[in-house]
Formats: sequence, structure tokens, C-alpha cells
Amino acid sequence: MDNLTIVEHPLIQHKLTLMRRADTATADFRRLLREISMLLAYEISRDLPLTTQRIHTPLMVMDAPTLTGKKLCFVSILRAGNGLLDGMLDLLPSARVGHIGLYRDPKTLVAVEYYYKVPSDLAERLTIVVDPMLATGNSAIAGVERLRQGGARQMKYLCLLAAPEGVRAFSTAHPDVPIVTAALDERLNDHGYILPGLGDAGDRLYGTK
Ligand code: URA
Repeated sequence: MDNLTIVEHPLIQHKLTLMRRADTATADFRRLLREISMLLAYEISRDLPLTTQRIHTPLMVMDAPTLTGKKLCFVSILRAGNGLLDGMLDLLPSARVGHIGLYRDPKTLVAVEYYYKVPSDLAERLTIVVDPMLATGNSAIAGVERLRQGGARQMKYLCLLAAPEGVRAFSTAHPDVPIVTAALDERLNDHGYILPGLGDAGDRLYGTK
């Protein structure tokens, strides 16, 4: 699991525990996901390239650090991926945003695409693919594969929770795409849900169950 980073910051871990609790209300779940995603975006943007620009402080001129290169693109895997976008955009408001619609066939658990809309210049952008749950890895693998076909060259995968099965499958399919997550859970159940997990992230985020 060389390309897996678990962000063990105490704030993230505490907020994640609140999210896991079955009695956490929809509004709190949504707010916590927004807060955690901002902290995860901080971690994932840690190696963005810097240059300097000459500025005037009130006291003198200095060459001050400033981000360089093309902006990022966040790609949400619908629908639960959208829950990560607001917090990330709070931190990186100029990032472009793409969406991929993939649903899991309930019998085969294989990802089927129903929507795809991303910026046309993906090749020049660092693309961060986001989905809260890396479970079987099928949607993640299919999403990243689709983005490669669409021109993406440099990608990272950001999730809230990962299962060992999903990390293994994803890393085998896309060894060049680093995964950043808040926790690596125990395993999947027979329905492809992460244990102990937090249930269905989309349903908990949107209150649809
Ligand atoms: N998707 C979810 O929302 N939850 C899981 O545990 C697995 C996949």
C-alpha cells in the first residue's frame, strides 16, 4: 500500500468519528464532511509548486512565495463525491470542477457510466478525483480510467474512508495515482459496504433513507 496516505490529524479523526455514528443528523454529517474535506484538501495540495513574485509590503519589497502552474481540477464521482467539493473549493476556490456519474450495478457491483462532463484541458491540470468511500474500487478504477481517456495525465484520488480490498484493486489498476484518505477500515461486507464504515455516504449526506 505504498501509494496510500492516511491523514491522521486529530481534528480529522474526531470529526470522522462523529460522522460514523449512526445517530448523527444529516445536517451535521454534511457539515462535518465539508470540514474534513477542507482539511484533506490542505493535505493533498501540500506539494503544489511554488514560485516567487515581487511584492511591496508596507515596509519593503520582497520576493514572496506564490502558487504557480495551471489550476487544479476536482472531479466528483456522483453523487456522494459532491459532498467533498464545497470544503475543497473553500480552500482552492479557483479549481475547475468535473463530474462523472457512475452507478454500481447492485448484482455485479461493477461501475456503469451515465454522466461525464469535465474541463477540456485536463491534460494540463493536476486532477483530484473525489469520492468519500473507496470500497470495492470499481467506481474509482473506472472513473480514473475514463479521465485518462479524456486526457488527464496527473491524478490523485481523495476519499474519506478506504477498504483494504479497494486500495489493493485501485493500486493494481492505477499504480501511478496516489490515494489520500482519512482512514483505512477493516474490510467489506457481502454487499460491498465498508466495515465498520459509516453506511451509505450518499444517503447520509442527502437524507435519502
Ligand atoms: N459506498 C458507500 O456509500 N458506503 C460504503 O460503505 C461503500 C460504498
